[in-house]
Amino acid sequence: MVIRADIGVIGGSGFYSLLDDAEEMELTTPYGPPSDVVTIGRIGSRSVAFIPRHGRDHRFPPHRIPYRANLWALRSLGVRQVLAPSAVGSLQAEYGPGAMVIPDQLVDRTSGRVQTYYDIDGAVHVSFADPYCPSGRAVAVRTAQSGDWQTVDGGTLVVIEGPRFSTRAESQWFAGNGWSIVGMTGFPEAVLARELALCYTSLCLVTDHDAGVEAGQGVTHDEVLEFFAQNVTRMRTLVADTVEALPAERTCPCGSALDGLKLPFDLP
Ligand code: ADE
Repeated sequence: MVIRADIGVIGGSGFYSLLDDAEEMELTTPYGPPSDVVTIGRIGSRSVAFIPRHGRDHRFPPHRIPYRANLWALRSLGVRQVLAPSAVGSLQAEYGPGAMVIPDQLVDRTSGRVQTYYDIDGAVHVSFADPYCPSGRAVAVRTAQSGDWQTVDGGTLVVIEGPRFSTRAESQWFAGNGWSIVGMTGFPEAVLARELALCYTSLCLVTDHDAGVEAGQGVTHDEVLEFFAQNVTRMRTLVADTVEALPAERTCPCGSALDGLKLPFDLP
C-alpha cells in the first residue's frame, strides 16, 4: 500500500500528537530521519502527515531539530501544504498569552543552522521576500477568527538561535523595530519549505510576554510548556479546522518557487 498525504503538520513544543487511529511510518531521508515517526491519517476528507518537531519526548532542542529531514519526509509523502504551529513570546503589549498570531514576515536571528538543501555545486537562490503562503495564512486567520481566538493577522516573527531566551535589551530592540513575536523554530523551517516549493503557514500561540515587555525575571521554559499544555486541545482544534479549510488545489505562488531554477537533484 502506498501511503500518501496532502497536508503536513509539524507540531511544536507540547504538541506531540494530532491524529488518532493513524498509521505510523518510520522514514528516513538523505538528511537522516525526521524528528520522530510520521503519523499519517485523515482529518475529514484530507490526508494528513504529522511530525512532532521536537520529537515526542522533546529530545531535540530548537537548534538541533532535523529541519531538512522533516520537510523532505513530508514532501516525499506527497505533502504540498504545511501548517506549522509553535509557541512564541509576544514583543508587543497589545497581545499576550493566548493570542494566535499568523505572521506574514520573518527575521532570522539564528546562527550556524543549516538553512538550505542546495549547499552543493550550483547556485539555487529562491525568492523569500514573503516567507509564508498567502492562501494558507488567509485560511488560518479566518479559522482562528471564527473560533475563540484573539487573532493577529500578520506581523513579524523573529527567530532566535536559542536555546536561551532573549536578554531584555535584545527583546526591547526587537520590539522597537516593530517586530511582533519571538520564537526559536520558525527558521530555517520556513525557507526549507520554500526550497521544496511547499506552502508553509505558521500558527503562533503566544505563551508569554518576552523579557522586553514583562517586568521580573523574564520568560522561563516551564512557563512556556505549562501554558502550551493548557492550550493544546484548542490548538489541535484550530489546526484540524484549518486543515479542512485549506484549498484542495494550490493557486498561490508557492508551487512555482523553483520555476526557472536549475536544481542539482530531483525533488521527492
Ligand atoms: N517560545 C515561547 N516563548 C518564547 C520566547 N519568549 N522567546 C523565544 N521562544 C519562545
